[in-house]
Amino acid sequence: MSKSSGEATASDTAQLTIDGKTFDLPIIEGTEGERGIDIRKLRSQTGVITLDAGFANTGACKSAITFIDGEKGILRYRGYPIEQLAQHSTFLEVSWLLLHGELPSKAELEEFTREVTLHTMLHEDYRRLFDFMPKSSHPMPVAAAAVAALSTFYPEPDTDDRIFRATVRLLAKMPTIAACAYKHSIGQPSMYPRNDLDYCSNFLQMMYAVPCEEYTPDPVVARALDQLLILHADHEQNCSTSTVRMVGSSHASLYATIASGISALWGPLHGGANQKVIEMLERIAVEEGSADEFLRKAKDKNETTRLMGFGHRVYKSYDPRAKILKQTCADVLSRVGGSSRLLEIAQRLEEIALSDDYFIERKLFPNVDFYSGVIYQAIGIPVNMFTVMFTMGRLPGWIAQWLEMRHDPDFRIGRPRQIYTGELMRDYVAADKR
Ligand code: ACO
Repeated sequence: MSKSSGEATASDTAQLTIDGKTFDLPIIEGTEGERGIDIRKLRSQTGVITLDAGFANTGACKSAITFIDGEKGILRYRGYPIEQLAQHSTFLEVSWLLLHGELPSKAELEEFTREVTLHTMLHEDYRRLFDFMPKSSHPMPVAAAAVAALSTFYPEPDTDDRIFRATVRLLAKMPTIAACAYKHSIGQPSMYPRNDLDYCSNFLQMMYAVPCEEYTPDPVVARALDQLLILHADHEQNCSTSTVRMVGSSHASLYATIASGISALWGPLHGGANQKVIEMLERIAVEEGSADEFLRKAKDKNETTRLMGFGHRVYKSYDPRAKILKQTCADVLSRVGGSSRLLEIAQRLEEIALSDDYFIERKLFPNVDFYSGVIYQAIGIPVNMFTVMFTMGRLPGWIAQWLEMRHDPDFRIGRPRQIYTGELMRDYVAADKR
């Protein structure tokens, strides 16, 4: 099979010598020239495993969905550069692309959009779920619980048709779930979806409309939101996507699997960083006084402070998504006339950090979360909803990765090994004798 078909090929071997015996290990090469040593038979042949904390250098699968070159700052979905998709495409079109591997035809996109639009409502019994959550709840666990609960209302997606229905349902209902979680937290009635609006305009009206007033979503804000969702739609084998693959590998329900991805995304080192960025910028504005003083702390190993929204496991140059969002941020602020104070602090932090030896040596650059929070804040998204927005964006990527895993001929349940470092065998001693 040719390389352009997307198949990885076995091209060479690596030699590994253990206890004087040499073993040949196949080298797998991907379409972009990335190479990996296939160690699947290593343990059965040698009794030895590989150890790689945080899976920093471990390929858990072959994937044809997203390509990242972290050194060069490249991100492509199904071969298309993120810059082109962010500029010309829509979130639903990108969702189709991730799920199917090709851009949809006009008719396919219209039908897909129609299907998603017609599934945005929530079952009335299901809607009452939100009433039982404390108003003070963070919307991320509410969203995770609500998505897991979809599996109690709908059949197990175990056939191609049911998987398609479940995919449409998830994409359609996630904005409604997110808006319901928010409306519940502020004690307002939740708004029903409106089928005359596009995906993001409908989300904005469910977030901000009230039954007693007319509400017209701002098309510029809706477009900025759509672009944010596109930029978050997939990012290959990150923490939450790997969680989705791991949970999905036990053949758990798709809804429960996506709920596990939401839980993984919530953490401040992953999707929760966008909330932490805005809290950091506000802290600098109110308490710290200066970006310089904050950066001094971020570099000090005796402090727990980190420059949130900076650094990335894969990108060792400027995250291409952050580059796009920096511009969107300026555009949105000039449109909605929000406070530019936080943007100024963010730009100042970036300027100092990019010329500081500490950040240069460690190749720490702004990541996608550095500017997204400033945009969300400017368009009125509450801080605790930032990571929920990320969830809405990442959803098609999670489902595409789950689908790819299900069709992978090399599929096996996820089950890493370990190096045991505990006690050797010892005999039990009764409590009164200890
Ligand atoms: N501020 C200050 N120092 C940092 C930062 C930061 N944001 N990020 C990394 N470093 C330093 C570490 O202290 C370490 O220094 P050392 O070598 O002297 O010990 C070095 O850079 C390498 O950092 P690691 O934590 O080993 O890098 P890792 O790849 O494990 O972590 C991570 C990546 C979690 C993203 C990290 O850079 C971080 O915590 N950033 C801030 C949180 C953040 O923005 N997360 C969002 C990531 S994007 C996403 O998930 C959507």
